[in-house]
Amino acid sequence: MDGFDLVWITILFACYPYSLTLTPTLDNGFSQSLVQWVASLSTTWLILNPWCPFVSLLVTGASTGFGLTMTKCVLKNGDIAVATLRSPSDLDALRAEHPSPETLLIIKLDVTKPEEISSAFNEVKEKLGRIDYVFNNAGYAVVGEVEGVKEADARAMFEVNFWGAMNVAKEALEFFREVNKPRGGCLLTNSSTVGLVAKPPTGWYTASKHGEHRSRSISRSHA
Ligand SMILES: NC(=O)c1ccc[n+]([C@@H]2O[C@H](COP(=O)([O-])OP(=O)(O)OC[C@H]3O[C@@H](n4cnc5c(N)ncnc54)[C@H](OP(=O)(O)O)[C@@H]3O)[C@@H](O)[C@H]2O)c1
Repeated sequence: MDGFDLVWITILFACYPYSLTLTPTLDNGFSQSLVQWVASLSTTWLILNPWCPFVSLLVTGASTGFGLTMTKCVLKNGDIAVATLRSPSDLDALRAEHPSPETLLIIKLDVTKPEEISSAFNEVKEKLGRIDYVFNNAGYAVVGEVEGVKEADARAMFEVNFWGAMNVAKEALEFFREVNKPRGGCLLTNSSTVGLVAKPPTGWYTASKHGEHRSRSISRSHA
């Protein structure tokens, strides 16, 4: 088993309790089957490894979609969610349901701003003292044929999907190494199947998401 296997196993392991709750909430058939597949594999892993220390999870892009769903699943599971997003007021309703920052910590974070990434992890260090899982999720797609997309729009997407995710990953690794010492933590990255299989209108998005293969390199260098 090499480092890459270990990362996948930890991803499956971490997704297990959330995947079961996520399944009925997704209206996309492909996502459902993917989540169910993850759930079944991670069940196997869970049976083999009974120690399951779910404590806290930080998610980027928690305002909508996968990020919001993951945040709600974490809370529903009785764990601690650190929801980071560009406009914290988007989560006012959720904050009203979970007023304690020890249960739901909401932090302003635009992943294109490295200083906000550092500040978010520092706040977590001060208020929680640790973070066990980081879900590198913030991202979006610019759709259009390669020649039809303005360079400025493609570059703006790369700032989020590629550089933003990379800077979050670097900060998470440092946090796992220095703050969670010696236990470490688990980094989950939301890439895309389109990151592996290019389609006519997804050239730029595919390129930005294919960059998530750096996770393979990270896992090998930390194995
Ligand atoms: N939907 C799919 O079928 C699919 C499939 C595979 C992978 N993904 C990936 O899943 C992730 C979430 O997508 P989604 O489908 O849940 O879409 P979504 O509902 O549009 O969520 C995108 C999230 O990213 C956030 N975001 C955008 N720019 C940001 C920035 N600069 N800093 C911080 N957050 C930023 C958005 O925040 P704001 O509300 O502030 O804009 C929003 O919370 C993305 O990485 C996407 O590529 C999606």
